[in-house]
Parts: sequence; C-alpha cells; structure tokens
Amino acid sequence: MWNRLLAVGILVLIGGSEGSSEDAVYIRSKYGNQLVTSSTLRWVSEQKGEHRDTAVEGSVERVLNEYGKNPEDTVDADEKQEPVIERKVYVCRARHNGIWVPGQLRFGKQACQISLHGQVHSYEKYEILENIEAGARLSWVRWDRFTGIPIGSVAGGAELYIARRKGLLDPLDEKKLGFVHLLGKLEVPKAFGGAAGRILVISPEEQEKEFEDGEVLVETEPIRYELTMIKYNLDKVMVKAKEKELATTTLRNENPYPAKIDTMLEYEANYSLYWGQGRAILKGLPTIIRRTNGSLMEEIKWGLPEFEERKDVYKLEVHLEAGTAVNVTLIANDTESETPYTAKLVAVYDDGGHRARTITGIRREMAMKDLKPIFSPAYFIGNMSLVPTTTTTTTTTTTTTTTTTARSTTTEQQADKKGGRTEGAKGENSSMMNDEGAEELKRQENVLTGGAAGGTGAGKGNSATINVPSFTFIIAIFSAAIISLRIIKN
Ligand SMILES: *[C@@H]1O[C@H](CO)[C@@H](O)[C@H](O)[C@H]1NC(C)=O
Ligand SMILES: *[C@@H]1O[C@H](CO)[C@@H](O)[C@H](O)[C@H]1NC(C)=O
Ligand SMILES: *[C@@H]1O[C@H](CO)[C@@H](O)[C@H](O)[C@H]1NC(C)=O
Ligand SMILES: *[C@@H]1O[C@H](CO)[C@@H](O)[C@H](O)[C@H]1NC(C)=O
Ligand SMILES: *[C@@H]1O[C@H](CO)[C@@H](O)[C@H](O)[C@H]1NC(C)=O
Ligand SMILES: *[C@@H]1O[C@H](CO)[C@@H](O)[C@H](O)[C@H]1NC(C)=O
Repeated sequence: MWNRLLAVGILVLIGGSEGSSEDAVYIRSKYGNQLVTSSTLRWVSEQKGEHRDTAVEGSVERVLNEYGKNPEDTVDADEKQEPVIERKVYVCRARHNGIWVPGQLRFGKQACQISLHGQVHSYEKYEILENIEAGARLSWVRWDRFTGIPIGSVAGGAELYIARRKGLLDPLDEKKLGFVHLLGKLEVPKAFGGAAGRILVISPEEQEKEFEDGEVLVETEPIRYELTMIKYNLDKVMVKAKEKELATTTLRNENPYPAKIDTMLEYEANYSLYWGQGRAILKGLPTIIRRTNGSLMEEIKWGLPEFEERKDVYKLEVHLEAGTAVNVTLIANDTESETPYTAKLVAVYDDGGHRARTITGIRREMAMKDLKPIFSPAYFIGNMSLVPTTTTTTTTTTTTTTTTTARSTTTEQQADKKGGRTEGAKGENSSMMNDEGAEELKRQENVLTGGAAGGTGAGKGNSATINVPSFTFIIAIFSAAIISLRIIKN
C-alpha cells in the first residue's frame, strides 16, 4: 500500500517537473506518505572522493593532528597547535543492483560507502547531496519507533531516509577521537507506513550496525519569502519600447457657442511582471517585495508571472470654439523591460526563524507607459478648414484607470506537489529567458486572447472593478450623460 502510494507520488512528481528528474531530491511532505521534490536540495554525480563545497555534512571524524606530533612540520601555527582536527563526512548515495542507497563519503576515501543486507559496499561513482546556494534549512531530528518519520525527512532511495546515530566515542578517550556520528539510513518497512523501522549505519570498522533510534535528516521549508534591498543594475537594463496608437476619436463642439467637450478613450493594455525563478527558491510561495525604505511594493507568488489584461480609460476634456472639432489620438509606449537585480531573499519559517541570502535575477515587465494624447489642429466642422491659430484651444486631461481583467497566477499549485524544481543544469543562471516561468509567460500571452474572465481587481492606481460585459455600456452612458449635461448647462 505504502509502496504503491510512493510509486504514484513519484510518478506524479516526475510528470510534473520539467527536464531530468535524475537529480531530484525527495522529501516527506506533510500529507501522509507523499514525497515531494525539494527545491533546494539535489543529488550531484561525483566520483572518486570528489564533492562540492555545498555538499551536506552528516558527521565529522575527529583525528589527531598529524602535524602536532611532528614539530618539524612547517604548517601554519594555528593548525600546528590544534591537537585534534575534524574531517567532514558527507551524505552520498550509490546505486546498488539498481536501487539507490544512501551512505557516506568519509575523508580520504575514494568512494561512497553504503550498506545493504549486512554488507558494506563501496562505489567510486556516486551522488552527493548538495544544498544549493545553502538555500535549505537542514536539521537532524530524533527518530525512534514511536515518533514516526518527521515531515521533511530527506529520502535517499525508496523506503530509505538519510539517518545517522551518535558515534560510540570511547568515554575514556579525553580527546574524543573517532566519528561523532555514524551515517547511514532509516529503513522503513513497507507494511507499517513509518510506524516501525530501523536505522542502519556504517561503523568505524566498516560494518553495518542496526539501531532502534537515531536522527533523521530533515529539511524545513519556509512558509513565505521577503525580497528586500533590491538593487537594480540600471546599466544593464534592456528596454524595448514601441510607440502604439491606443485609440483615436474626434471631439466636436456642434453648439453655437464655445464649450468644453470631454470624452473617455477606452483602450486595452496588458501588464505583466515577472521576477524570475532563480535557484533553490520554492515556486509559488507567497512573497512580499519591499522597497529599500521598507514600504510594501507588492505581493506575489514566487516564480509565477503575473499577467493582467487591463481595460483602461483615458479621460480628456477639450475647450472648443463653436462649430469646431479636433481629432485626438491616444498614443503610448508599449514597453518591455528586463532589469537585472540583486536582492536579499529572506526565507521565513513556521517557527519564526529566518534565513537570508543574496540572490540575483532579472525583473521583466511589460507595460503601457507614457500615455499621451496627440491633438490635430482644430477645424471647422462645416468645411473642414483649419481654425485660424489665433483661436486658442485649451485642453485638460486626466487619466482614469479602470477594470482589470484576467489576472493569472499561471500553473496551479497543488498543495502537495511543488513544481518548484529549480533548473537542474549546473551553474545555470537565473535568467528568466530560460526558466519555466518565462516560458509560461509567453504561453499565456498566447492563450489569454479574449479570456476576459472577471478577475481580481487588484489593479494599480485608482482602479475599480467593473464587470467586463457591462463595461462598454457603462462608459457609453457615462460619456453621453456628461456631454448632454454640459449642453444643458451651457
Ligand atoms: C518609500 O518610498 C516610496 C517611493 O519610493 C514612497 O512612495 C513611500 O511613501 C516611502 N515610504 C516610506 C515609509 O518612506
Ligand atoms: C518611449 O520609451 C523610450 C525608452 O524608455 C523613450 O526613449 C521614449 O522617449 C519614449 N517615448 C515616448 C513617446 O514617451
Ligand atoms: C480628422 O479626422 C478625419 C477623419 O478621421 C480626417 O478626415 C481629417 O482630415 C482629420 N483632420 C485633421 C485636421 O487631422
Ligand atoms: C469655414 O467655415 C467657417 C464657419 O463655419 C468660416 O468662418 C470659415 O471662413 C470657413 N472657411 C473656409 C475656407 O471656407
Ligand atoms: C552566470 O552566473 C555566474 C555566477 O554564478 C557569472 O559568473 C556569469 O557571468 C553569469 N553569466 C551570465 C550570462 O550572466
Ligand atoms: C493583450 O494580450 C492579449 C493576449 O495575450 C492579446 O491578444 C492582446 O492583443 C494584447 N493587447 C495589447 C493591447 O497588447
């Protein structure tokens, strides 16, 4: 049963994440026996003792400082005086008969050691657990047969979690030499869903040892992010601006006296904003973006492009002499900008804990900017000849932003399934041009055509929400009412 659930869980996950899932690290979700992909951990192929700086440490081995014994050694003074030094033991895994088994990479060993069915095996080719950009908050949580498997436990293979146990350091040894912890795995029998199990570690003598308690490696995921201290790299901004005609109309004063004529130009403008995905950041997590002065700039779901198809109106008023008219065209700068930025990303945890790190990304914005009306010279309605320039035409304009339609937060996030795998390729930059979100944004631009479903009216500025079907109607009546009012007044 558990087995089947697990298999289904993994299938769903593989189906849901793009690209290779070979290096995906699965952690135990809060939803029963499901496993979810970690956004911040991954397995990296290595061999012959190699590992990266970001490799996850599972234990240390305390050894006598060789240099301390030999005063002739020419090492720097600090090291020389240390009687005991600590060597790190890293978490690795190797594939044995087609099954992944978590184990350890000890100092000086050229291979990952794993144990299975009482036997210890060494593999020169293995995978090292990597904490990408130190984005994951990891801890070792106590486990015994009664505690169950903690949420966030890091899996190292099917039914196997990464685990360790206190090393049996000789109490008589003042220097406490040896392995502080013995690294291995928590094996959970299929039938009991984690209610039972055992910890199997590799002893200093390289034998498999079994225990009924120990510690399990756990990743705690943040509940939200805050992005602050944003610094834009204005030297590297890429702006594509295209002048666009949004609307055009003619304003006429058909009265036998001068009058103010107003109108509302209705236009469509799309707005989208995307901060990128970046590495080791959970997609879809609520994120607050703050200005440098601390004020709230916006709230987004990380890694999901915001897209709004807006319907706005531009209101303008023109003073016209009797029997004259003026043509007006509303133009704007259809702007697409990509601004590289550096910012501080703070992960906030359930228990109030924080972790901050610096991230870089590219902010991509598409917006209609620099709106302005262009007026033709005023002309007589009767004969179309231009009004002599001595006649003044005063204009006043006001912009009114209305209606926001179809706002999207793209890919639906299933609660138990994070699509948040970061792009696996090594050293890949967080450029939005090649991440999922940017592609999603593009897809959406194609899909959304005509999708004027009433969305949230969380527009910027003085916006209000009006249902789309009635929109044109309201504007029409509204303008008509204003114009007739003016005629009566005059
Ligand atoms: C922070 O800056 C923004 C604009 O940059 C401004 O509108 C806002 O009032 C400022 N807030 C505070 C608290 O200074
Ligand atoms: C449109 O935007 C570009 C780039 O920001 C700017 O150089 C240009 O002056 C703008 N045009 C108008 C009409 O505002
Ligand atoms: C105003 O627009 C009309 C039709 O749209 C055009 O025939 C006329 O030439 C325009 N007049 C001026 C002064 O631009
Ligand atoms: C056009 O008509 C206006 C008044 O209707 C008149 O003042 C103007 O002289 C006329 N212009 C021409 C060229 O006929
Ligand atoms: C990608 O990021 C690395 C550092 O992580 C940097 O050295 C490199 O210049 C970046 N490449 C691009 C194209 O931005
Ligand atoms: C807004 O986006 C929709 C769908 O992507 C597109 O059909 C429409 O032409 C866009 N409107 C403007 C004013 O760019």
